[in-house]
Amino acid sequence: MQALILAGGKGTRLRPLTVYTPKPIVPVMNRPFLLYQIDILGRAGITDITLSLSYQPDKIEDLLGDGSDLGVSLNYITEPNPLGTGGAYRFASGELNETTVVLNGDILTDVDIAKVIGFHRKNSADATLTLASVDDPSRFGLVETADDGRILRFIEKPKPEDAASGGINTINAGIYVLEPRILDLVPEGEHLSFEYDIFPEILRREMGFFGYNMIGSYWRDLGNPASYLDAHHDFFDGKIGGFEIDRSASSDVATAATVDDVSVIGAGAVIKPGARIKRSAIGPGVHIDEKAVVEGSVIWPHARISAGAEIRDAIIGRSGYIGRNVIVGAGTVLGDKASVPDYSKV
Ligand code: GTP
Repeated sequence: MQALILAGGKGTRLRPLTVYTPKPIVPVMNRPFLLYQIDILGRAGITDITLSLSYQPDKIEDLLGDGSDLGVSLNYITEPNPLGTGGAYRFASGELNETTVVLNGDILTDVDIAKVIGFHRKNSADATLTLASVDDPSRFGLVETADDGRILRFIEKPKPEDAASGGINTINAGIYVLEPRILDLVPEGEHLSFEYDIFPEILRREMGFFGYNMIGSYWRDLGNPASYLDAHHDFFDGKIGGFEIDRSASSDVATAATVDDVSVIGAGAVIKPGARIKRSAIGPGVHIDEKAVVEGSVIWPHARISAGAEIRDAIIGRSGYIGRNVIVGAGTVLGDKASVPDYSKV
């Protein structure tokens, strides 16, 4: 069994965070995001992993290397131009010669992949999609299945009232198990998507196509800043567990500073007396001065938060500078190296 992680998108909705950091390696609780996907693959015994790249591929490869530190073997395949999710799958076909687990590289989940594979095998399926249930499915494409899990149809971005009246709330969760014969349906060199091109073709040909409902698993896509921040809040609230978060990094936290138990502080961070950190991820090398308050926020590496500044429910990019007594309000997202002058409100 092998895995293909689709990690080549530009991540436009997550800008400005993705201007210098490709989405698959944005830090989540101070770990590059892809490590969470590698973890769940490893738990299912899948160690042969290909990363399909296009946008800033070197940054991803330089960070993750050959995977030996992570107990897996990582291959990289880079498209000269982005081919879309389906085109990228076809482009990687030289690496794929057996049943493959394909993951969108922006899904945070603790789903048990071994169970998904078991379901796929039990049905002798050609293709299996994981399905997540969501409260408001109108932002997503819905997937309707029969009682035995067979996929019946896709309903693209329904209006909220239609979604509610149809009683369907399962969406494509972005993890697939595919047999190599699915590759034969995909023409080479074309820009194609799974959702619009490949899945409809599988349905049309009446192949064995099933949906695995991942009830009880955590699932979130990290497509935009709000969702990225919410993923952190889910960690702080204990809604997602089972991953190793490094809380032992050596940092310099003043005894007169307050840091709650759920926050995570990166290596080499400095937190000065009187500073208060609550429900936040503070990256490596961040400097937080006296009496600054950071709450519900994510601070990327090497940012500096000056004395008396207050940051709530916000994201501060790498090496950002927040001046003295600045107020940063909910929903603010500052790109790398942003500088906010003293006493500003943003
Ligand atoms: P947006 O620009 O914000 O829509 O993000 P995105 O570019 O990441 O697109 P989307 O969220 O639809 O992508 C889902 C997953 O597929 C992400 O993990 C992307 O990295 C990946 N992906 C999207 N397009 C491509 C592509 O052309 N090539 C490869 N290799 N991966 C892609």
